[in-house]
Amino acid sequence: MSDPRPLIIVTRRVPEPVGRALAESFDVRLNPDNHRFSPPEMRRALSEADGMMCTLFDPLGPDVLLPGPHRCRILANFGVGVDHVSLPAARAAGLLVTNTPGVLTDCTADLTIALILMTLRGLGSGERRLRAGQWTGWTPTDQLGRRVTGRTLGIVGFGRIGRAVAHRATRGFGMPVLAWSRTRPEQELLEGFGVTWCDTLDRLLAESDVVSLHVPGSAETANLMDAERLTRMKPGSVLINTARGSLVDEDALVRSLDTGHLGGAGLDVFVNEPNLSPALRAREDVVVLPHLGSATFETRVAMGMKAVENLRSFFRGEALPDPV
Ligand code: DGY
Repeated sequence: MSDPRPLIIVTRRVPEPVGRALAESFDVRLNPDNHRFSPPEMRRALSEADGMMCTLFDPLGPDVLLPGPHRCRILANFGVGVDHVSLPAARAAGLLVTNTPGVLTDCTADLTIALILMTLRGLGSGERRLRAGQWTGWTPTDQLGRRVTGRTLGIVGFGRIGRAVAHRATRGFGMPVLAWSRTRPEQELLEGFGVTWCDTLDRLLAESDVVSLHVPGSAETANLMDAERLTRMKPGSVLINTARGSLVDEDALVRSLDTGHLGGAGLDVFVNEPNLSPALRAREDVVVLPHLGSATFETRVAMGMKAVENLRSFFRGEALPDPV
């Protein structure tokens, strides 16, 4: 008799092709009702499965990843960000972690551009007004937003997604683009993207009409945009965040909007997802979306397939394509 196939527990409902691909190689326990695992359920899953496919909505801290050997040996994250996983706890529990870089770059960059357009042009409030029957017709002075073309975009974090946003902004909208990251890329690469490098984040903040965040969530980037940094942004400028809610001090953001220093914000991610703070909810100058960056069928299938490939490689004893 051949060895039993590894058991993979999948913490949330996945697109059907991903479930099928998993079933070709593994015994699979899906989550057909799509409920969120409680910590006890997660601990049980770790003791029953050989591998797990998890998502950014599964907090995997030291309370769940208990030290010592588990049956589970790999967490294949369905997503690129792993700020929900305590990597030291995973290591102590003998678990490898993988993610899904690359395949969500274009969709996240597209959504970033959508948020820039929505925020500067007031598209959300315009749509709400129309649906509410409050539109009284075209006039020269009604519902005026701000021009996008030609405004300076500052990209914080010049990795895959930051670069894809720069490409769209320079080519599509004639936006001068500034960029800042922890490490400076080669000049040739910056020139290829038509981007001007800023040696400091403060300089980028002071010179950009739109600041867009593209750094991962981590202890190092928590509250990157705190009250002080928000103050350094150009008066009337807008903040766009499609990365992680933890990068922005939401209370400080609301205060900055209240004083009129910032001219708006476009947010796809929040500190306390899925909850939206009442102060943000109430604002007409803030566009909010429910973490839709990677939310297309094609991209979610590609993300799932990457997670499947990582699981397959692990159980075949091969090098992991996307180790974290
Ligand atoms: C990720 O993969 O981390 C994204 O936030 C999902 O949209």
